[in-house]
Amino acid sequence: MKRRTFLLSLGVLPAAWMLPFRAQAAGRVLVVYFSRSGEQYGVGVISKGNTAIAAEMIAGKTGADLCEITVENDTYPMRYKPLCDVAKAELNNKARPAYKRSVADISGYDVIFVGAPVWWGDWPMVMYSFFEKEHLEGKVLVPFCTHAGSGLSGFDKKLAAACPGSRVAPGLALTGADTQHHPGRIAEAVDGWLEKLASQGVVPGI
Ligand SMILES: Cc1cc2nc3c(=O)[nH]c(=O)nc-3n(C[C@H](O)[C@H](O)[C@H](O)COP(=O)(O)O)c2cc1C
Repeated sequence: MKRRTFLLSLGVLPAAWMLPFRAQAAGRVLVVYFSRSGEQYGVGVISKGNTAIAAEMIAGKTGADLCEITVENDTYPMRYKPLCDVAKAELNNKARPAYKRSVADISGYDVIFVGAPVWWGDWPMVMYSFFEKEHLEGKVLVPFCTHAGSGLSGFDKKLAAACPGSRVAPGLALTGADTQHHPGRIAEAVDGWLEKLASQGVVPGI
């Protein structure tokens, strides 16, 4: 067994997708997100999605550009329970809905924050469409989610698996309802996370 493989098996070395980022000076930064308004869990009918609020905050604090992902033929229900049914069917079918993005060319970005709501313990299927279609090799991807109790739900590992050749930085899970009702809590969590990312050289200090 090779020395690196041996050390990896002992847990002495981090897996490749977890390698430290120090000395990898942050270049152009983008925040990509998918989010839904309408009726959402625990917050009633909202005019701006929870993840959209988090994404705007992250972009504001890092000076990053914002890129919204939307489904191309958007027939998603605006009511919570019917949306859950549609999303469950997409998950079961491993659907890859066509998408649009609000930034035309993302090739020049080096660090891409990627955020979405947790849907059935996973990324919404449209995000896999994005991961699989874009050329994200060589980029640093930084996952974040909003959720109603599930936490990060393996977003980091799933992102790394869907985007071979990228490097995935530590992610952040935010409680969806807090984005609407307790923005101070969200700001505190985002600040702590960005400081940690800055100490690893993923983003410049805030
Ligand atoms: C289809 C669907 C599935 C969901 N599944 C989960 C889940 O598995 N775990 C969880 O904690 N929250 C789940 N939620 C709650 C959302 O993750 C949460 O409300 C999120 O903040 C919504 O963000 P958005 O407004 O940006 O779309 C689900 C919501 C929907 C609509």
